Amino acid sequence: MTEKNFIPSEYSNEISEGKVTYKSPSNIALVKYWGKKENQIPANPSISFTLNACATTTSISYKKLASKTSNFSFDLLFEGKLKEDFKPKIEIFLNRIEKYLPFLKDFHFTIETSNSFPHSSGIASSASGMSALALCLMAIEQELNPEMKDDFFNKKASFLARLGSGSASRSIEGDLIQWGNHTDTDGSSDLYGIKYPYEVHPIFKNYHDTILLVDKGQKQVSSTVGHDLMHNHPFAKNRFDQAHENLTKLITVFSKGNLKSFIEIVESEALTLHAMMMTSLPYFVLMKPNTLEIINKIWAFRESSNTNVCFTLDAGANVHVLYPDSEKDEVFQFIKNELVAYCENGQYLCDRIGFGAKKM
Ligand code: DP6
Repeated sequence: MTEKNFIPSEYSNEISEGKVTYKSPSNIALVKYWGKKENQIPANPSISFTLNACATTTSISYKKLASKTSNFSFDLLFEGKLKEDFKPKIEIFLNRIEKYLPFLKDFHFTIETSNSFPHSSGIASSASGMSALALCLMAIEQELNPEMKDDFFNKKASFLARLGSGSASRSIEGDLIQWGNHTDTDGSSDLYGIKYPYEVHPIFKNYHDTILLVDKGQKQVSSTVGHDLMHNHPFAKNRFDQAHENLTKLITVFSKGNLKSFIEIVESEALTLHAMMMTSLPYFVLMKPNTLEIINKIWAFRESSNTNVCFTLDAGANVHVLYPDSEKDEVFQFIKNELVAYCENGQYLCDRIGFGAKKM
């Protein structure tokens, strides 16, 4: 498939007004996307667990205009209130995708969006937000073209979401999604995320992710700035090669259920992501003292308990604690007893692996 496959020919149906709603989840990368080329093409492939509880719900009400407009016509409400300051980001997104959705200037849209997690939690909402928006727009396109097949719908939704935010391409389906060309993964593409196509051991079903909110403040480095830091980064080539190698290693790990190797890859990926930020120019340290306290506690507990709890990080101080369903009681007790004390106001979110976005 190429970009051209996503440019539609004439629509078979006419529509005048209506409303569509999608609830779309966040995701947590196991092999990280960090660095991109032009047009939101990733510098390396990545894979993520789709989450379940952390999600964005978006509705779009659409009304046909008397004639095509020169600018996009839309209102944006976040958690029930008009949000002018969110509009420029949406406008950029609409500009990027107009070629693939030629009806965008034929309608007035009222976009209403809300998150299941607190806005000030330090949790990035771009994956769930952009995927929910892409899905709503695809639902409108499907009304214009009712013959569209589900497989194409999902691929194009992921393709459009990617143009909003790279990681959003991994939030359409579940439960394990890979995005980016990888020679050892059949069907993988830089253009959209695919369901991981090989065998997955049952130990990975129902995996838990408890998100410890260490620092709820504004992100110190936006992901756009962060990805840019990989241009001319002294370790970029090795890092991109390593992501390919880790994905290859994961194929055996997923099929055999080898948690020791899983932990090694996932924790190394998290620390490498932060190492890239610490060794770029300008450099950043996004972990906080409590991030390190939590990591050390997890290592000590894993050693003493013989459980398979591990951590991953996104581009911030919060810690995602990952563990299999069979160990949930013991690990959750440990989190409550020993880790919650390091969270800002004792706040954390309980999530687990999920199965993708839902039409409401
Ligand atoms: C560290 O998807 O937020 O979470 O494409 O610029 O919107 P943009 O970046 P974004 O980057 C996510 C980076 C990450 C790793 C990951 O999710 O793979």
